Amino acid sequence: MEKDYPIQNAVGIRRKRILVVDDEIINCQLIKGIIETFGYEVIIATSGAMALDLLDTSFDLALLDVLMPEMDGLTLVRKIRERSDIRHIPIIMVTGLANKKCRLEAVEAGANDFVSKPIDTTELHVRMRSLLKMKEALDGIKEYQVRLEEMVRVRTRTLISTVESLSLARRTTQEAHRKTIRCLAMAAEYRNVGVANHILRMSEYSALIARNLGLPDNEVEMILEASPMHDIGKIGIADAILLKPGKLSPSEWGEMKEHACIGAHILEASSSELIQTGSLIAMTHHEKWDGSGYPRGISGKNIPLLGRICAVADVFDALTTARPYKKAFSVKDALTIMHAVRGKHFDVRVFDAFTHGMKEVRFIYQCYQKKAGHRIPTGNC
Ligand SMILES: [Fe+2]
Ligand SMILES: [Fe+2]
Repeated sequence: MEKDYPIQNAVGIRRKRILVVDDEIINCQLIKGIIETFGYEVIIATSGAMALDLLDTSFDLALLDVLMPEMDGLTLVRKIRERSDIRHIPIIMVTGLANKKCRLEAVEAGANDFVSKPIDTTELHVRMRSLLKMKEALDGIKEYQVRLEEMVRVRTRTLISTVESLSLARRTTQEAHRKTIRCLAMAAEYRNVGVANHILRMSEYSALIARNLGLPDNEVEMILEASPMHDIGKIGIADAILLKPGKLSPSEWGEMKEHACIGAHILEASSSELIQTGSLIAMTHHEKWDGSGYPRGISGKNIPLLGRICAVADVFDALTTARPYKKAFSVKDALTIMHAVRGKHFDVRVFDAFTHGMKEVRFIYQCYQKKAGHRIPTGNC
């Protein structure tokens, strides 16, 4: 008789493993003898319980007797189909019963095929080969799925790790970006303000107003980081004007006003959204609600909201810090002065958003008063 040759798989060559279950040991031995001539490895179980103990994923097929004491063949089929590790093993029922009802019950329970007693060797071999091929195909699909899942897991892990690295690199770059911008803004401010706490306080006040106006967190963050650039154009103003201790002449004042446009032009070339925002603030932080500001004299809502916010924060900080030609106003007096031009210099809504946060304003003010190295502003503008 033609033999099935063992099938080669990833771990080498092994024979197909068949479990034969029959309560009669003689029957088991008889079937074992037949099947071994096909070239398969045979394991015997003499009860359903024993079969359930022995069965694992190493088996390729099971031949079950139908009539057995304690656990009959149909019950055993159902139990095999309930176990996730072995439910895909093909099952051939070996039965002396030709009755149709019994066969239907067996199919319903999960049996794949039948052979009748006495066993026809050729028929048994044909049926086994067919089911073993099906099992082999299923195993191939399962193996492929496992490999695919592992590949997906590995690639997902790699992707997550790459995304995390990119995100960390992005955060690091953004942080370096922000620090660089703040240093540049401070360098510009240093010429006439000494230690540049002005831009730090002013940016905190601006963020506070934005928050009180209900702007989303990303916009609050944006104004916090962009507002320090508002006076960066002072870099283009001559020392004789910028550092002049006395009052500026009308032409000097005209030149000083140029710092808004200079700052905006320096920053507008950048493709960074943050620096573009800085450019907008530089251009508009001296505009006034009634149109009497500079450089363009625009009014009302034509002035971008960020410019209107920074105007309030900038003036408040200028009033509450001392200059050579004036003392620092108290917070209360500064608010009185500013309130008088609410609706003229300042957007009412923005000014009110600022005054609603006075507790935080005083906190910011006091924090910077306490900071070591605090030096007072000395210039104009
Ligand atoms: Fe300014
Ligand atoms: Fe300023």
